[in-house]
Amino acid sequence: MTVHFIGAGPGAPDLLTLRGRDLIARCPVCLYAGSLVPAGVLAHCPPNARIVDTAPLSLDDILTEMQAADEKGLDVARLHSGDLSIWSAVGEQTRRLRALGIPYTMTPGVPAFAAAAAALQRELTLPEVAQSLVLTRTSGRASAMPERETLPIFAQSGATLAIHLSIHVLARVVEELTPFYGPECPVALVYRASWPDETIVRGTLADIETLAARAPMARTALILVGPSLGAEDFRESALYDANYDRRFRPRGER
Ligand SMILES: C[S@@+](CC[C@H](N)C(=O)[O-])C[C@H]1O[C@@H](n2cnc3c(N)ncnc32)[C@H](O)[C@@H]1O
Repeated sequence: MTVHFIGAGPGAPDLLTLRGRDLIARCPVCLYAGSLVPAGVLAHCPPNARIVDTAPLSLDDILTEMQAADEKGLDVARLHSGDLSIWSAVGEQTRRLRALGIPYTMTPGVPAFAAAAAALQRELTLPEVAQSLVLTRTSGRASAMPERETLPIFAQSGATLAIHLSIHVLARVVEELTPFYGPECPVALVYRASWPDETIVRGTLADIETLAARAPMARTALILVGPSLGAEDFRESALYDANYDRRFRPRGER
């Protein structure tokens, strides 16, 4: 018996990986994390699978489900939205499984920030504009931020920021970032990227709050900030430069 943790992607059912789909189809038990996992992904469960929404369950309850499956020798597909490596609460589950001696695997998924960038049709790292992407959040009721992981500290780099779980504190985000990025810095709000009701609001740090007020967004939205969102006059990358001597295409070979 194995618990298979699977990143279910950002919303669109066809953004599930083939590996994730095949694992779901093989597991007689499926535990999924609430409304962010779409019905189209659950449709891959085998007939008669036990399918449980874990949103109302405690960690103890979830582990009870996994242990019950273990006792029956049934594999479990454990689905979380986006990718497993960020804000998925997988760490506490795998720690318990290690303590119980229950084996598990992890299958990555398409994260929300990648779906948001695709919706915006932008690359988030551009030559000499931004070469780093900071995946972060602001402190919430349940989770305080570590002391040195504040927006002003990350903002000093000028990197592209993908700010999760923070649409409800947009005003604070704008206030903290404006001194570093300037009022004209591009901002994009992407609500439910890849879902049928996906909504995008583009603006600058100066006007994004006003623009957002016209299209109010609930929790499932990302705030992207940085010059890479608006740059058009960036240098082309050396990768495809004909004069750049590369391992796989030595200069002179066409
Ligand atoms: C608990 S985190 C989960 C992140 C997820 N594990 C990932 O890989 O993207 C939830 C936050 O991710 C962002 N998010 C998740 N899905 C999204 C989507 N489809 N569109 C925009 N933001 C999304 C929102 O900021 C939301 O508050």
